[in-house]
Amino acid sequence: MLGAGAGAGVTASAPAAGAPALADVLRVAAAAWRRFRGGRALDAALDEALRDWRAPASPRLGAAAQDAAYTAVRHLALAEAVVARLAAKPPAPAVGALLAVALGQLYAARHAEYAVVDQAVAAARADAQTAAAAGFVNALLRNALRGGAGLRAELSRDPAVAANAPRWWLDRLRRAYPGEWPELATHAQQAPPLLLRVNRRQIGVAAYLDLLRGQGLAATQVGTVAVWLHSPRPVAEIPGFAEGLVSVQDAGAQLAAEWLDVADGMRVLDACAAPGGKTAHLAELAALTLDALEADPARAARIEPNFARLGLPAHTRLRVLIADGAQPARWADGSRYERILLDAPCTASGIVRRHPDIPWLRRAGDIAQFATRQRALLASLWPLLAPAGRLLYAVCSLFPEEGERQAQAFLAARPDARLRTLPGQRDGMRQLLPSVASPAPWTGGLPALHDGFFFALFEKSE
Ligand SMILES: C[S@@+](CC[C@H](N)C(=O)[O-])C[C@H]1O[C@@H](n2cnc3c(N)ncnc32)[C@H](O)[C@@H]1O
Repeated sequence: MLGAGAGAGVTASAPAAGAPALADVLRVAAAAWRRFRGGRALDAALDEALRDWRAPASPRLGAAAQDAAYTAVRHLALAEAVVARLAAKPPAPAVGALLAVALGQLYAARHAEYAVVDQAVAAARADAQTAAAAGFVNALLRNALRGGAGLRAELSRDPAVAANAPRWWLDRLRRAYPGEWPELATHAQQAPPLLLRVNRRQIGVAAYLDLLRGQGLAATQVGTVAVWLHSPRPVAEIPGFAEGLVSVQDAGAQLAAEWLDVADGMRVLDACAAPGGKTAHLAELAALTLDALEADPARAARIEPNFARLGLPAHTRLRVLIADGAQPARWADGSRYERILLDAPCTASGIVRRHPDIPWLRRAGDIAQFATRQRALLASLWPLLAPAGRLLYAVCSLFPEEGERQAQAFLAARPDARLRTLPGQRDGMRQLLPSVASPAPWTGGLPALHDGFFFALFEKSE
């Protein structure tokens, strides 16, 4: 996730006092962009581009390149439409990448226009793959500026450009949400709010809000233990983070542990656990015997350090199991769980404002593929649930194939499953659409600010 104002502190002229030159920032971001357009997730692409940078990259260069790359992804459809309109033929990939990140800087007004053009040309000249195209880069960026708001408005008449999404993605959203899709597309392009979960084993929400106020930081309670910190910042600068007072977690994601309704002494399975955000929340809520299952060993390695930071090992009997949830014969020991959380792998279409690369990394067929994996996980985990036990199915998706339709198909296939009313709700499933900050104070119920999620709570007959 982005730190606040990472674009600040970049120098558009001579580098001074460790500030990275904008030309270097554009080069690193463009290298990441090429990998990303080749199919890599943006964060992985940035890590690789920084690793390959000619000198050890400073944290400031890393932060600025991350900001430039995320900014470019938030303007991807427009930038590519501008290049398609203004270039006589498609530019070479290295040149197209530099143009995309430079146009992102122009459209987000991160720096003076002349400085962006000047530094993009310097970046082009500094690299053998783009040097010959420095004049073209200069001309295209100047033409884009000359076209100004009129060119942008004209290209944005294409709904896929306005929504900054692949056409198939937008079509699927429109089909699922004929009324809401324009608002969903707008939300997806906004900078994500920074939400924290207060660790009630360490501090209460009111005391934590006082602590923030004491440091001059504006914040609002938006859920039971969810706090919206108005000015985003890196985790190292969040008061009490290192001491385990809080975790970074969306307020909608916080509903998962809350709605699973755990109590002291329960045996609980978190079936898709890494990096352990919801696992830790469960342990903050009750003293549990908790199995955290995760298929990816590198991701699983993040669960225990998270627990240690939050001071949770003293309250929980935690076992991290590295295995496939769809093959319980390989890891389950025969005893049943009273609660299961299945936070299943999904398209992540509900968290695009946090991960704007998602729509561009997916293919239309992915929705059905994720739905198949989710179905297999539900079918494999259900037999592990004790009679009268509850399984909460969760996905951070907006597509009904992964949400409501998945839950309905499960109910139809399992006569021993019934929907249990979600705590504080009227029914047993809930599709949350991403929301923006509400000026009204939170008075209970759903959080005032959250990403997109689907939840269904199933109970097994006795
Ligand atoms: C939505 S993420 C979980 C996020 C986590 N619950 C949290 O709150 O921090 C889904 C996780 O499921 C894991 N996963 C995917 N398929 C799996 C499987 N068949 N068995 C176990 N874990 C799986 C992925 O590696 C990923 O870490």
